[in-house]
Amino acid sequence: MDIRRVTVIGAGIMGHGIAEVIALSGIPVILEDAFPEALKKAENGIGTSLEKMKKSGRISPEKASEVLGRITFSSDLKESVKDADLIIEAVPEIPDLKISLMKQISDNCRKDAIIASNTSNIRITTLAKDVINPDRFLGMHFFNPPVVMKLVEVIKSEKTSQETFDNLFEFTKSIGKTPIRVLKDSPGFVVNRINAPESLLFCLIMDKKMAKPEEIDAFGKLQGLPMGPYELIDYVGIDTVVHSLKYYSETIDPEYGKCKFFDSFVEAKNLGSKTGKGIYVWENGHAKIPDAKPSSVIDLMDVLVVEINEAAKIIEEGIAEPSEIETGVKLGMNRPFGPISVAEGLTNAEIKKKLEKLSEKFDTRIFYPAKSIQQGKLRELLAGRHKATEPQAGTAEKKEPVQKDGASPVSLSMDQDKKVAYLTISNTRNNLISYDVLKGLEKNLTELWNSKEINVIVVRGSGENFSAGAQLTQFFSGPMDFAENARLGERTFRMLSEIPKITIAEMKGYVLGGGFELSIWCDMRISTPDAKIGFPEVTLGLIPGWGGSQRLSKLLGMSRATFLILTGERFDGKFASEIGLVSKLYAADRIDDETRSFAEDLATKVAPISAAIAKRLINKGSDVPADNGLEMETMAMGLLYGTEDLKEGISAFLQKRKPDYKGR
Ligand SMILES: NC(=O)c1ccc[n+]([C@@H]2O[C@H](COP(=O)([O-])OP(=O)(O)OC[C@H]3O[C@@H](n4cnc5c(N)ncnc54)[C@H](O)[C@@H]3O)[C@@H](O)[C@H]2O)c1
Repeated sequence: MDIRRVTVIGAGIMGHGIAEVIALSGIPVILEDAFPEALKKAENGIGTSLEKMKKSGRISPEKASEVLGRITFSSDLKESVKDADLIIEAVPEIPDLKISLMKQISDNCRKDAIIASNTSNIRITTLAKDVINPDRFLGMHFFNPPVVMKLVEVIKSEKTSQETFDNLFEFTKSIGKTPIRVLKDSPGFVVNRINAPESLLFCLIMDKKMAKPEEIDAFGKLQGLPMGPYELIDYVGIDTVVHSLKYYSETIDPEYGKCKFFDSFVEAKNLGSKTGKGIYVWENGHAKIPDAKPSSVIDLMDVLVVEINEAAKIIEEGIAEPSEIETGVKLGMNRPFGPISVAEGLTNAEIKKKLEKLSEKFDTRIFYPAKSIQQGKLRELLAGRHKATEPQAGTAEKKEPVQKDGASPVSLSMDQDKKVAYLTISNTRNNLISYDVLKGLEKNLTELWNSKEINVIVVRGSGENFSAGAQLTQFFSGPMDFAENARLGERTFRMLSEIPKITIAEMKGYVLGGGFELSIWCDMRISTPDAKIGFPEVTLGLIPGWGGSQRLSKLLGMSRATFLILTGERFDGKFASEIGLVSKLYAADRIDDETRSFAEDLATKVAPISAAIAKRLINKGSDVPADNGLEMETMAMGLLYGTEDLKEGISAFLQKRKPDYKGR
């Protein structure tokens, strides 16, 4: 079913944002609320948000008024739902209120309309209790603020049909969000469920008087968190945390109810930022946190293993797959890494040991290792080879190939007629090189290695930048892990100089650090004159560690390479061209087209075997004494003698026609 008309019920913090997201995607929305003053507030909120987008140039003034024009504000529930294709409920997190509202909606909407709840925690199956045709009822959990946060959890209840689930999943993508599949209904779904034991941990630390909130928050800030855990709890609302823990104690494990520290704040109505007082006093949207020394009562690894443990339980219970959990935590908690990639850098034994200690220290089984960790099977679980990770019937054949991060940040497109492949990095605005980017490049280059259809590979970045470098916020468990990541980068980038295809880097915007290294492993570089190029590593306490310290001197000679690496100085594409690093320069508005036509021309003009052998001789020949290099060259000539392409090249030359090389 095409979703063309949407109704959002409840115009509060979430509802008004959801309505704005949908209207921004071009779909008309009715925003319904039982209270007219809530509608007025919602209209103002949407107006302010659109105004901000207009000011920052993200949308045009015409689009802003079109978007507002697509939203109808209403207090009449029956009227609002009667024609809708999709109805999204976003009223307060009170089970009875939601259950009775769902009944009203389903009594008054079309029998084929999809009904979704934006509940944060409540099992969807519970909310579907009185709905007619519960097969078209499911969860659609946006994150706050919906206009900014990319993540939406799409949740299947016990009764949701596969068709409804797939339909809403595709719709969520179409409105510009990144959905993850929650295959089985469970309290808290994925992101809030991963958060659940953490809330308990921070509550127990206070209950047991192990530290002061400001000491733990000082520790959190030291780890690079934008807000310490207690500051965040205050910001979200202590009542929200207390309600969630209570719900988890009733539905997941009674031990979620064993901590009382937060309750006293709720009783005193000191709920945090929204009441001006909670764990801290709040003024002008900021918590006044007393100065304190960072506490050492827990370390970062304690928090991370608690998350890994919960992620393992989620996989074991068949709620979501590892890649979806990783995406969910990264996007839902605004973090550079999720529990799955952290777990991949640790051993089962160390995770198990830490969890056992935590469980004992805090006297709760919530932190006790999940079954797969107890059995030493975490690796299999994460790789999807554990029984519990098998998707529910009917989902497997529909799923796209499993990628580490939901969608790979490196896309491969091929123009087989022209024999050119394009590898495009597209993640953040700066196209930072993360573990996922390296794995994406490795996978695609492996796929292209023996392809007869492709002779030339162009490596580029989407948007304005090639790549501003490595993702420095990635998690590493220690020196060996960090070194192995360096090895992965070097091994992957080196493929570009070894693959039997011509590789071209299309450089524009930022080409820095790891991004610069990526470009210099290519056979050729084409750049815009104003590209910003350089190795800032030494100014950050690093070195160009993905082969840059070795490769640059091969290309430029030791003197120039030493200067550029040791000063970290930035230079532009024009200078790069003057020193011979870049072979062609084109303005930003032409570089895509010019690189494309250059690549297409090379891909048919050059005999592929000759190109593959020539680049190998150049790269390997420079590592060996001249005599050996010349010997390699002679042998290569002998090898070429037998190729059809040599015969074709000479015949075409004599017949004054274009050669038709077959790579044989
Ligand atoms: N606030 C968050 O950070 C967040 C994030 C994700 C999900 N959620 C979930 O979204 C839902 C809504 O949360 P919120 O923060 O937007 O709440 P809110 O209190 O800001 O808004 C709820 C709105 O529902 C309206 N309402 C109440 N009863 C109604 C009825 N019978 N019919 C129509 N409207 C009614 C209220 O007038 C209010 O405008 C909850 O289930 C919550 O758990 C909240």
